[in-house]
Amino acid sequence: MRMYNELAPWFHLVTSPGSYEAEAAHIIQLADTACEGPAKTLLELGSGGGNNASHLKHRFACTLTDLSEHMLEVSRRLNPECEHLLADMRTMRLERQFDVVLAHDAIAYMTRREDLSAAITTVAAHLRPGGVAILTPDAVAETFSPGTSHGGHDGPDGRALRYLEWIHDRNVDDTTYHMDFVFLIQEPGQPLRVEHDHHTLGLFSRATWLDLIQASGLQVIDVSIEDPHAGEHEVFVARRPR
Ligand SMILES: C[S@@+](CC[C@H](N)C(=O)[O-])C[C@H]1O[C@@H](n2cnc3c(N)ncnc32)[C@H](O)[C@@H]1O
Repeated sequence: MRMYNELAPWFHLVTSPGSYEAEAAHIIQLADTACEGPAKTLLELGSGGGNNASHLKHRFACTLTDLSEHMLEVSRRLNPECEHLLADMRTMRLERQFDVVLAHDAIAYMTRREDLSAAITTVAAHLRPGGVAILTPDAVAETFSPGTSHGGHDGPDGRALRYLEWIHDRNVDDTTYHMDFVFLIQEPGQPLRVEHDHHTLGLFSRATWLDLIQASGLQVIDVSIEDPHAGEHEVFVARRPR
């Protein structure tokens, strides 16, 4: 995916850290409510540009992991006080345990049941007993809806980006859906650039998510806290039994 590789330096002009404040506050509330014992350390799988982490780091000691060195570099600049590690959420084993493990929108890149199962097993392997997992995929099969949106930002350095995002699923019989992006990129002194990027994401039923979470040894818990982004993503909260 070009957005997480050669286009990574533009990531914060696609989605800005400031727009993650409410979501991060919700994650903190979920962790505080569901975690048995103090919640002080947080591991994020697929931390991307570190947008969530830029708010979470004031509350937790954060360890941020991602498959892309380019994205880690973007996050390091925003969150120099956090630990950053290059790792694939399907296979990583840090041999350490955390109070909270977060897999935000990045877990949506698990496109096969085996991959999703492996990522959830990684989550469980890094939770201390009583610790809490927060998993927030963009969609489950029951809530998926195709659509288009647009956005983008002007940077303080004269760079600017606007995008069109098209979410679609032409084959409803498999476990994937697709996002196509068109980026309009402006750099001082350069002609306007137009770039295309294609992402394949996973789409699983709620029952599949719940089965895999339970199979990993975690207990799904129902935390009734109002979600500022209700309808925009799914939230699974689970605890590692003591
Ligand atoms: C949309 S970005 C995450 C943005 C993040 N929520 C934030 O607050 O900035 C998705 C990230 O998932 C990462 N990713 C995709 N597959 C992964 C995998 N198997 N393991 C770890 N990270 C992965 C990508 O490299 C990308 O940085």
